[in-house]
Amino acid sequence: MPARNALLVVAHPRPDSLTARIADRARERLADDGFTVDVLDLHAEEFDPRMTTEDEPDWTDRDKTYSATTEAHMRRLAAADTIVVVFPVWWMGLPAILKGWIDRVWNYGFAYGRGRPRLHGKRILWFGLAGYSEDDFTSPGWDELLKRQLTEGISRFCGIDDATVHLLYGTVPNGTPAARHIAALLTTADADLTTLLTKSTT
Ligand SMILES: Cc1cc2nc3c(=O)[nH]c(=O)nc-3n(C[C@H](O)[C@H](O)[C@H](O)COP(=O)(O)O)c2cc1C
Repeated sequence: MPARNALLVVAHPRPDSLTARIADRARERLADDGFTVDVLDLHAEEFDPRMTTEDEPDWTDRDKTYSATTEAHMRRLAAADTIVVVFPVWWMGLPAILKGWIDRVWNYGFAYGRGRPRLHGKRILWFGLAGYSEDDFTSPGWDELLKRQLTEGISRFCGIDDATVHLLYGTVPNGTPAARHIAALLTTADADLTTLLTKSTT
């Protein structure tokens, strides 16, 4: 079997957060499945999400060389067959550090703007953690908005057709003792990851 590489992107400031713990489960699951896993912890690597002049697209030059940081991140993204992004839902969207990573790295001429997109053929799993209950999140349609943004607005726009968005709801303890609440969520997340990563690698 050819070597398989995964890029696991984590967007949370606290290493012992539920987000980080679920990302670690994803890393284990990918490694068990034979992937070489490149863990990109955006906070630990002190990724700067602010757009710079150097990283602004030049619409007349799709072969533009971007900043050294961005070019290095592009190489990590290009090397991955499977991309897994684990993040908390903040204001119904992506945390700023993750949004900035998309802004700077998923850039013109690399991620989009070519007849044959360079990211085509990759798989991506967006695994988001939401504080709201499933009913509070889905009744007003927030799930559809977020899923559309991530699948259509980003993934498929960049040629990644195999894109899945999965949301784990009710992450904020609500009367239940925190330890028990987190243990239950980790059990759910484990089962979800098994289904999602097995499904996405067939
Ligand atoms: C700045 C901020 C914004 C948030 N916005 C939302 C939101 O829009 N919808 C939601 O369901 N939860 C929201 N939450 C709750 C987080 O999704 C929740 O704290 C997270 O999933 C828990 O995972 P963690 O323990 O790893 O942080 C927000 C939390 C923070 C800190």
